[in-house]
Amino acid sequence: MSSIGSAQSYDLSATAIDPDDPAYRPLLQDLQGDILKPNGRLYATHVVFEFTGTEPEVRAWLSSLADRYLTSAAKQLHDAAAYHTVKVDAGLFGTLGLTAAAYQWLKFDLPHIPRDRQARFIAGMADGSTQAALNDPPIHCWEPWSRRTIHAVLNLFDNNPSALDAAVALIRTGAAGKANILSVQPALRLRNAQGQTIEPFGFVDGVSQPLFLKSDAAKPPAGSYDPAAPLSLVLIPDPNGAGPYSHGSFMVYRKLLQDVSNFHQDVARLAADLNAPPELAAAYTVGRFTDGTPVVLSDQPTGENPPSNDFQFDVDPNAARCPFQAHIRKANPRGDTVRSNNAPLEVERSHRIVRRAFAFQTARPGGGTETGLQFFCYQSDIGNQFEFIQSAWSNMTHFLRMNTGLDGVMGQAAPKADCSRPGSPGGQHWPNAWGDEQKGTTTVDFGRWVSLRGGAYLFAPSLSFFQGLAGH
Ligand code: HEM
Repeated sequence: MSSIGSAQSYDLSATAIDPDDPAYRPLLQDLQGDILKPNGRLYATHVVFEFTGTEPEVRAWLSSLADRYLTSAAKQLHDAAAYHTVKVDAGLFGTLGLTAAAYQWLKFDLPHIPRDRQARFIAGMADGSTQAALNDPPIHCWEPWSRRTIHAVLNLFDNNPSALDAAVALIRTGAAGKANILSVQPALRLRNAQGQTIEPFGFVDGVSQPLFLKSDAAKPPAGSYDPAAPLSLVLIPDPNGAGPYSHGSFMVYRKLLQDVSNFHQDVARLAADLNAPPELAAAYTVGRFTDGTPVVLSDQPTGENPPSNDFQFDVDPNAARCPFQAHIRKANPRGDTVRSNNAPLEVERSHRIVRRAFAFQTARPGGGTETGLQFFCYQSDIGNQFEFIQSAWSNMTHFLRMNTGLDGVMGQAAPKADCSRPGSPGGQHWPNAWGDEQKGTTTVDFGRWVSLRGGAYLFAPSLSFFQGLAGH
């Protein structure tokens, strides 16, 4: 704690920070909200921009956009506390990310472009190296807005969807001559009958997250799963902020289309092949039942609300309860890589990400609706976090053991030029009887029902960066 708030840099190895500690005030006042804690609103709109005006015009416009719409982490926490006591809705909430192309357009030199260790932010999501590393579908399969040069994405959140429409109308007027709006992507929080947030396949979502604040991350008893994370998991010093208190975070945006009807048909086929109830087959693909019950803890949903997050996979070393290819086992192996690869636990935990996804449900051009996730995640290093999870764990067919196959939800095999989704090479192995290793596994290729439709690698800079932008 010695260096926090001083003229020196902050100690980003701190965990369970107390936001009421005055030493953290400058950091939280200059940091965008939604990074350390989700903002909790019901609706979202993602506005995607391409700059067009002169450089001074765009700088001034971005600065005023940030001033008008962005919410600091300090304000978010203050408003949340006020809501808790007097139930006053704080209204519109905003975050803003810039791509490396935006920094270049604004003529920042290389040392002033935020950098992660493998320079993945600078490469960008549409770069050939990224496509190859992630097995992403070719860019001609992405939505047209996402094939253009994206410079910025403004994320607005509110409990009232018409407030978002009104804000977008004003933003359109203000952007004229400075930026094209490439797309306005609406999103919402889907909820089940218990009021829990779900994703479009119907599973409770947003359960397991790295936690940064003292109020969220109480020290768990020995042997329990510890969700606490150091600030360094999501923050880096902002190279263009006003002071040592200025930080930002890399924001990965992926619009992921979900084929809900084929997913459920495939779950039924898997259930029939395994002679198991469909809810158990579904739980094998995600690693949790639709109500969030971890399948490593139970062979049926328990209805616990909120769902348990206190589990590790050491009780199931051979995946007789939770398959290795289950989405949550791939995306956060909770000690598996320590047992299998002798990797230090801290290295495994350094790959964690902060997820902030909302769902979309929009009219399909040819009729009907299409649905999926506007998937956003925050991290301090895109290569070591989002990209590592996608490529080294979810897409890796030899994850932990030979031929475990792709992640049952978002694993990607080498793409096809015709935009169709290839299956899991060699299929995946599913338990014949929950928890009974002696009964062995059946190999079934569970289909690929999530596809990338576009997105970008962004950086959410400090608020003082935007304030200084106009004067540069
Ligand atoms: C449409 C695509 C996706 C769907 C439907 C989906 C669904 C889910 C669900 C239902 C959970 C369990 C509930 C929870 O802990 O919040 C979960 C957890 C998780 N997902 Fe996804 N997800 C998707 C994409 C992704 C992507 C692209 C990543 C990152 C590369 C990712 C990383 C994670 C992580 C890290 C967890 C938490 C694992 C844990 O700590 O136990 N997900 N996801």
